[in-house]
Amino acid sequence: MTAVDASVSISPLLQALNGRMGPTPVWLMRQAGRYLPEYREVRARAGGFFDLCYNPGLACEVALQPIRRFGLDAAILFSDILVIPDALGQGVRFDEGVGPVLSPLSDGRALAALDADGVERRLAPVFETLERMRGALPPETAVIGFSGAPWTIAVYMLEGRASREFLIAKSWVYGRREEFSRLIALLEEAISRYLIRQVESGAQMLQLFDTWAMVLDDAAFVEWVEKPTARIVARVKARFPRVPVVAFPRGAGASLEGFARRTGVDGISIDTRTPLAWARDRLRPETAVQGNLDPCILRIGGPAMRRAAAAIMAALSGRGRFVFNLGHGILPDTPPDHVAELVRLVRELDTTTERS
Ligand code: CP3
Repeated sequence: MTAVDASVSISPLLQALNGRMGPTPVWLMRQAGRYLPEYREVRARAGGFFDLCYNPGLACEVALQPIRRFGLDAAILFSDILVIPDALGQGVRFDEGVGPVLSPLSDGRALAALDADGVERRLAPVFETLERMRGALPPETAVIGFSGAPWTIAVYMLEGRASREFLIAKSWVYGRREEFSRLIALLEEAISRYLIRQVESGAQMLQLFDTWAMVLDDAAFVEWVEKPTARIVARVKARFPRVPVVAFPRGAGASLEGFARRTGVDGISIDTRTPLAWARDRLRPETAVQGNLDPCILRIGGPAMRRAAAAIMAALSGRGRFVFNLGHGILPDTPPDHVAELVRLVRELDTTTERS
């Protein structure tokens, strides 16, 4: 029996993703991080950000912090999407006040020097973090593994940092198609192996973050967001057919419907812009919906937060296959009390099953 079989009956998150009616589960993107004083304390002890990601004891500790404080239904692996370029052999730095900085891939030759075998070797501490998390948590709290999706990781590898116009990445998409296909194929290989090892190490749901999905036109979206996702899902499902995969193709809008149907994902994490009634009615009932409170509204709190959370619960909690979350990650200056209140609210507003 896999970890999924064992806890599907008691984990509200896994129940919801499997279509069983039960309490509405809640977890929050970036729930571990700088808004928590206890995170800042561990972060200061760890040294650099990647030193924290590659220290299984400390990474497990910060992943569990939000569970202890708020009793969320899932703990997400503490790591970053940029461990993939790091494992492939492209250096990644985190600069204070700037965020991630990579030395951008220049051409096909730089690409040929990268090696997917680094995933199992270099990311061994990440797998150990998951083992520790699964060992430390009760069965009702699910463990979520994740990766960046190929397009968003490729953006960082080509641009070197977050960008406004994405001109370098797009010049590969539209002008260097052959090399770009090779980069995406390498990322599909690395990400598939990475996710499969995560499940072997204790992950019970997988989330694919495609933060920059919205910057491509429709044809490129299908080619470089949808199809690579579908191929990764197929590889993971061939090994672990019952582990739910949720995708977050941020800003995909009307493309979400076809994306959900054609990729084989079990769920879509909808961003804040996605209309609630549209998500309820236009995504197939088999597709789980996760979302979508504006992280700024969580930061603001008070009546605005209560209204927005109530609207989300009213539209989606009765749908089945719904997971309460944000539309994007928690902002670093969010008061932890707002998060505690939000979790309480979701439980109060729940129209499905009472918790025991
Ligand atoms: O609770 C969790 O969600 C924990 C794990 C997690 C982190 N990053 C930790 C992190 C996850 C799932 C991510 C995903 C991630 N990382 C994404 C996709 C989701 C999204 O927000 O769109 C992206 C694009 C990244 C890349 C990244 N990592 C950026 C742009 C930054 C800098 C911005 C920032 O907030 O500092 C990071 C750093 C990062 N990743 C931090 C954390 C807790 C902050 C690092 C610190 O402590 O200084």
